[in-house]
Amino acid sequence: MAEVTMDKIVSLCRRRGFIFQSSEIYGSLNGAYDYGPMGVELKNNIRDFWWKEMTRLHDDIVGLDASILMHPRVWEASGHVSNFSDPMVDCKVCKARFRADQIDLNAPCPNCGNKNSFTEPKNFNLMFSTHIGANADAASVVYLRPETAQGIYCDFKNVLQSSRVKIPFGIAQVGKSFRNEITTKNFIFRSCEFEQMEMQFFCKPGTDEEWFPYWREERMKFYGKMGINLDHLRWHQHGPDELAFYAKDAYDIQFLFPMGWQELEGVHSRTDYDLSQHQKFSGKDLTYLDPETNERYVPYVVETSAGLTRNVLMALSDAYDEEPTPEGDVRTVMHFHPLIAPVKVAVLPLVKKDGIGDFAAKLERQLREDFTTFYDQSGAIGRRYRRMDEIGTPYCITVDYQTLEDNTVTIRFRDSMKQERINISNLVPFINQAMKDYKRV
Ligand code: GAP
Repeated sequence: MAEVTMDKIVSLCRRRGFIFQSSEIYGSLNGAYDYGPMGVELKNNIRDFWWKEMTRLHDDIVGLDASILMHPRVWEASGHVSNFSDPMVDCKVCKARFRADQIDLNAPCPNCGNKNSFTEPKNFNLMFSTHIGANADAASVVYLRPETAQGIYCDFKNVLQSSRVKIPFGIAQVGKSFRNEITTKNFIFRSCEFEQMEMQFFCKPGTDEEWFPYWREERMKFYGKMGINLDHLRWHQHGPDELAFYAKDAYDIQFLFPMGWQELEGVHSRTDYDLSQHQKFSGKDLTYLDPETNERYVPYVVETSAGLTRNVLMALSDAYDEEPTPEGDVRTVMHFHPLIAPVKVAVLPLVKKDGIGDFAAKLERQLREDFTTFYDQSGAIGRRYRRMDEIGTPYCITVDYQTLEDNTVTIRFRDSMKQERINISNLVPFINQAMKDYKRV
C-alpha cells in the first residue's frame, strides 16, 4: 500500500476531472469546489447509495427536499443565531485569521512568526446571511442554511399529515449547506459550501435508548457495504465538553483521512429539543397523538448526519493506491467499490481498423442502457487500461479480431488485472453479478 497524501489526492482529482477549485480562472475562491465529470458521477453515486439505503431498505423512512432559504426565526429557534460560532483571532501584523481553539495563543503567529500579535478572541457566527426582496435592511435578512436538519423539523407535521407514517419513522434529506468556515484547509474536508445527507428519526420518548444503538450500528454497516476499509473507521463518543446541552449522547464516525482521524458522520440522540424549540418559537402544535394508546407527546429524535462531500473525500482517500505492475512500472489505481465508481465499464477496441473500432463503438452504445460507460480508442491498450485504473473503472471490455469471429470479448478486472473471455450475450448479467459479488482484496 502506497502512502496516501492529500497532495496526491488533489493532484489526481485535478488531472482526471474529479474536483477543481471554484472560479480558478479568477484565482479561485477559498472553501468552494467544483465537481468535474468524474467527481459529479462519484458524488451522485454515493448520494444514491445512501438514499437507497435509508429510504428503500429501511421501513418507514420517507424523503424530503426542503428549501435552502428558510424563515429567519428557524435559526433563532434552533440556536444557530445565538450559538453557532467559532472563537476567532486575527494577527495584528499579517492580518491572518485563525480559530482561537486551533492554535496556541501564547506561541508566535503561525503565518508571520511575530510574537504577541493576536487580537482578543471574538465570536464569529458561521452562518452566511443575505437579503430577500428589494430592501437590504434588518427585516429582510435570511440565512443560507448551515444544516439540512431544520428543514426536516419544520416539515415534521406536514409529512405526518400527508403520508401514512406513524411513529417511529424517519425523514431523510440530501442537500447543500453553507458555513462561513475560518479554516478551510484539507481540500474538500471542510468547505464553506458542502452537501449533507441527514436523517431525523422520530420516536417515542424512552425508545430512543433502543434506536440510538440501532442507528449507530446501521450507519457503520453502511460504510462496510460501500466497500470502505473498516480498519479506517472508528467511533468517537462526545465528551461532556463536546456534547450539546440538550443532547443525551452523541458519537462521531471518524475516518482515517490523509491528515489523520477526523469526523465523517455524527449520530446524535437529540431528545425532544428541536421540535420543542420550534413549537415554542412558531406557536404551532408539534406533538404527536399515538393512535393506539391515545398518549400525546413531543417525539424524541435520533439523528444521523453525514457529509456527502466529506464522503467523497473518504472514498477518494480509501480507494487510492500505487501498485507495481508486472511490466515493472507503477500504476495509480482507484479501488472504488463498483457501485460508486464514476464509470463502470470501458469499451476499448484493440485496434481501430478492420471494423473492430466500429464494432466496439456499437457495443458501448448498447451497454449505456445498463451501465455508465466510456469508449476509448486512442493510444496503446496498456495506456488506456492505466487511464481507466486512475478513474477507478472496474471493468474494461476489449474487442479484438476474435470478437468478429465468435462474438466474445475479454473483460479485464481493475483490481487483479486478470482477464477473462466471455460471450457478448452474457456481458450484462455477468457484470451485474460481478458488481454484486465485489470484494476488495
Ligand atoms: N445536523 C447536525 C449537523 O449538522 P455537524 O456535525 O455540524 O452536525 C454533520 O455536521 C456532518 O456534516 C459532519 O460530520 C461532516 O461530515 C459534514 N460537515 C459539517 N461541516 C462541514 C464543512 N464545513 N465542510 C464539509 N462537510 C461538513
